Amino acid sequence: MWCAATLASAKFISGMSMVDSLLEFRDIRAAYGEAVVLDGISFAVPANGSLAVLGRNGVGKTTLLLAAMGFVTLMRGSIWFKGKDISHLPPHRRAQLGIGWVPQERDIFPSLTVEENLTVAARSGRWDIDGIYRLFPRLKERRGNMGNQLSGGEQQMLTIARTLMTNPAILLLDEPLEGLAPIIVEELTGAIRRMTEQEGIALVLVEQHAEVALGITEDAIVIERGIVAHRARSRDLLRDPATLDRYVGLQLETSAQ
Ligand SMILES: Nc1ncnc2c1ncn2[C@@H]1O[C@H](COP(=O)(O)OP(=O)(O)O)[C@@H](O)[C@H]1O
Ligand SMILES: [Mg+2]
Repeated sequence: MWCAATLASAKFISGMSMVDSLLEFRDIRAAYGEAVVLDGISFAVPANGSLAVLGRNGVGKTTLLLAAMGFVTLMRGSIWFKGKDISHLPPHRRAQLGIGWVPQERDIFPSLTVEENLTVAARSGRWDIDGIYRLFPRLKERRGNMGNQLSGGEQQMLTIARTLMTNPAILLLDEPLEGLAPIIVEELTGAIRRMTEQEGIALVLVEQHAEVALGITEDAIVIERGIVAHRARSRDLLRDPATLDRYVGLQLETSAQ
């Protein structure tokens, strides 16, 4: 039964059949001890596709990315990448296969320069240091600076750039815009858009900034109570503030807190 449901959702999300999906969750259940966080999550991201994962604080967005990488044990369901069941592979194997995970913490080497941070991560493939500097001109300007001399926004760019140096087919970004000034948000979203639209890298973008995330993705899911409570094309959800407000709370809630 889940198979038919997954097929339907994959078609809904991508407009393609399941075989065309790059990353796919099939009916995922995941928990911390007794506390079930995800309870039947299915979605598919096609090659070159981009998916915004929205939802209020604590609904399980980070857990979803941890499950994709293999840091959370699945109680049910399977995860597929490039047509293979990767559910039982350890995190480093998933990374080798081409899943690039950028955790919420900006994880750079503080006592290495920007350029050293990039070269230690390098793996042969499409991306080299020049390509990275074209995508992030600000990192080129700061190439000789130490990691600990960078602003929050520059650290975030470096974290993403380091992951790109491993030549992933898909990037999983966990709230990359959190705490950044609007001008930096603009710079970073511009780079993310170029990565997906021009370089063909697929994307799963977890964000609290729903409107920004919807502006740079094709499809969106909203997580609530462990399930996918809403699916839509990003551009349609962007034009539907009532639905967005119901699930994500928009700015109304944040400014009231
Ligand atoms: N290591 C953990 N152990 C136990 N509970 C956790 C752990 N990490 C997260 N949780 C809980 O799981 C739920 C989902 O967390 P998370 O995936 O971080 O949500 P989000 O990223 O959407 O804010 C929350 O209730 C959180 O408190
Ligand atoms: Mg989180």
